[in-house]
Amino acid sequence: MSPIRPAVVASPDYPFTPVGAPVKLDQNEAPDDFPAALKAIALERMAARPWNRYPDLNAEGLAARIAAHEGWPAAGVVPATGSNVLIAQMVALAGIGARVLTVAPAFALYGLDARLLGATLTEVPLRADLSTDVDGLLQALEALRRESPATGGVVFVPRPHAPAGSLVSLDDLERLAQASTGWLLVVDEAYHHFTPDTAIGLARRHPHVVLLRTMSKGWGLAALRLGWALAADEVARQLRKLSPPFGVSTMQAVCAEVAFEHAAVLHERIALVVSERERMAAALARHPSWHVYPSAANFLLLRTPDAARAHAALRDAGVLVRRQDSLPGLAGCIRVTVGTPAENDAFLAAAGRVGG
Ligand SMILES: Cc1ncc(COP(=O)(O)O)c(C=O)c1O
Repeated sequence: MSPIRPAVVASPDYPFTPVGAPVKLDQNEAPDDFPAALKAIALERMAARPWNRYPDLNAEGLAARIAAHEGWPAAGVVPATGSNVLIAQMVALAGIGARVLTVAPAFALYGLDARLLGATLTEVPLRADLSTDVDGLLQALEALRRESPATGGVVFVPRPHAPAGSLVSLDDLERLAQASTGWLLVVDEAYHHFTPDTAIGLARRHPHVVLLRTMSKGWGLAALRLGWALAADEVARQLRKLSPPFGVSTMQAVCAEVAFEHAAVLHERIALVVSERERMAAALARHPSWHVYPSAANFLLLRTPDAARAHAALRDAGVLVRRQDSLPGLAGCIRVTVGTPAENDAFLAAAGRVGG
């Protein structure tokens, strides 16, 4: 007999294999490193801190800085070591023994965590154009309520969607928020910096709506592993009980503090990524055999006649992208992160040579 729960044994490893390449466009990271001058400020500040002392119990100092930056009450900010930690915490908060409802395909962790933690998972397919089927989500929610009126759970909606890049409208999310009282509605805004608007107004109006944000994408600080939830005070108070004590390090807090103080530098970089995304999308729209989906994020999803072939040909040209073709409805699809202009040129040149 194994002491390991069957759900854990049955769970696949996280679907990622690290591969090196001169042009690395496979993980939706920012193309440029955090500026050296800002690293120096952070390191100097870190050197002045006592390393023998624990950080704040619940990252209170950092939460206050995040709150000031986001325009959200500090009592409703829950920082964590990456927003993916918060996805598991949200399932633990309201999904265990209850429900997780999301779209498919979507960011892998919603489904993985639901299965690992023992929530009943319902997935609503994206529409043919890879947009979020909010009517489908509403119908699924209604069916789940009918089946078991007293059981709630968590709804996960990525906005923009990952890996499609599509952007569910705020009006559609409003309908979903109105229909999902008694549940938590998590809007995963990992890529919100690349979109014209956010769901923060929705979260202000509906106390059961929780936003997840991260420093890994727009802020260009994936190495830091820092994300946070913006929630109503009471939801945040309960969510905090699931955070490990002293779980966010002094180093994470110091680097985030420096980043917030220099937000303008990083916003210039985001503007460049957005304009590069549009340049790449326009060039790819002329590809003879690939289809490019509109994206509101820092990546593009492409449907090719053969994802294995496209991936291998790009890799031979030194460009690493991510295959997405094993996901439901994404046959032939690859995903490319927007890189520096030179990296994007290298990708476009190689893509043009792939042909069919
Ligand atoms: C939609 C989405 N949510 C969350 C995350 C996790 O971000 P973090 O680096 O903060 O754990 C990612 C990372 O790729 C993502 O694509």
